[in-house]
Amino acid sequence: MRVKIDKISHDFKGICNVDNKVIFVPGTFPGEIVDIKIVKNTKKYSEGKVISFVEVSEKREESKCPYSRICGGCSISHIEYIMSLQYKKDIVVDIIKRYADINIDPSIISNGEVYGYRNKVSFKILEGHLALTEEKSNKLVKVNQCLLANGNINKVVRLINDINLKYVTDVIIRGSQDIMVIFNGRIDKDSVISILSGYVSSIILNGETIYGRNHITTNVNGYEFAIFPTSFFQVNTNMIKSLYDRILKYAKGGRSLLDLYCGAGTIGIYLANSFELVRGIEINKDAIRGANLNKQINNINNITFECKNVDDMGEISEDVVVVDPPRSGLDRNVIDKLLSSEVEKIIYVSCNPITFARDLNILKVKYKLEDIVLFDMFPNTRHVECVTLLQRKD
Ligand SMILES: C[S@@+](CC[C@H](N)C(=O)[O-])C[C@H]1O[C@@H](n2cnc3c(N)ncnc32)[C@H](O)[C@@H]1O
Repeated sequence: MRVKIDKISHDFKGICNVDNKVIFVPGTFPGEIVDIKIVKNTKKYSEGKVISFVEVSEKREESKCPYSRICGGCSISHIEYIMSLQYKKDIVVDIIKRYADINIDPSIISNGEVYGYRNKVSFKILEGHLALTEEKSNKLVKVNQCLLANGNINKVVRLINDINLKYVTDVIIRGSQDIMVIFNGRIDKDSVISILSGYVSSIILNGETIYGRNHITTNVNGYEFAIFPTSFFQVNTNMIKSLYDRILKYAKGGRSLLDLYCGAGTIGIYLANSFELVRGIEINKDAIRGANLNKQINNINNITFECKNVDDMGEISEDVVVVDPPRSGLDRNVIDKLLSSEVEKIIYVSCNPITFARDLNILKVKYKLEDIVLFDMFPNTRHVECVTLLQRKD
């Protein structure tokens, strides 16, 4: 069947409409004409596979990544970068309208660094070699580099591929200047240390530090942040300053701030000088260990951290709340606590516009969406970060 793609879906698949039925065609985008074969048919939609391109968009580029056709990492690297920013913006506008019935016109901020930005890559192992996974499948592809990762991580990738990884199950490499390597499985400790020492600051094997420190550090606008093996840290180091500056701009300052899902305490610490009191809540013990160390390193005395599930927190008494939940968004319990509180402003940081829109649709009874800005924290992937200011209506 020959079709013309006229829209892009929320997960970056081309869309066309044939006989009043929607067909999703992965790997295509608006303006392209393709011959397809239907590979999935349901009552509501079909999915097509491209057999050949008849007309290719002038916005299509050759991906710089040699693995892009197999590995799901840089899944939209075939789209001209400026166009991908426009699509991300259009997708968020559509999602917020569809799920929260609110019209928005956000700007999208990028630092133009479209490769070499990631400070963390998680590898699987294929035949003793580092490998990455195809998105939404179990297929693995052996790799010698990941173009999204920074140069220091890629140096270590090449060194690790010289080690016999036959009995290793997975490897995580994280950091920017300071690099940590986390191995799980069985490996000869001494040979790993002799190959990697001098290139990394920390090696962790099955949760135990076998070389260097038990954490690494990263600098963001003069703040030094410690990262422990399993604690969350924003993956795009060079974009963190502008993201946090926007949160600070929305929060302004005042009496008290609650940083929910605070990770290693980074947002709360960044904002602490503008508030009298700050409290952070986070479920991950490693992250809270980092948060308490970060408080010390940065000499911040007006912040406390609680290691608990946000579901178990009591009433909210703070004036301003920052929420930065995982992709699943806010639990209903947390939304109810926010709605029954006296909180003036909520700054909602989200890496998933669909769950954000779902939550906004409930919060909007009491909070007005005052402003929204998108940050391209994940260039060449279909993800985008939204930062929003919700202001109490009364
Ligand atoms: C997107 S990260 C945000 C981290 C932090 N705000 C930052 O900028 O680095 C989400 C965090 O929520 C934590 N988390 C997930 N579910 C949670 C829950 N039910 N209660 C508390 N924290 C939770 C995760 O461990 C993770 O650190």
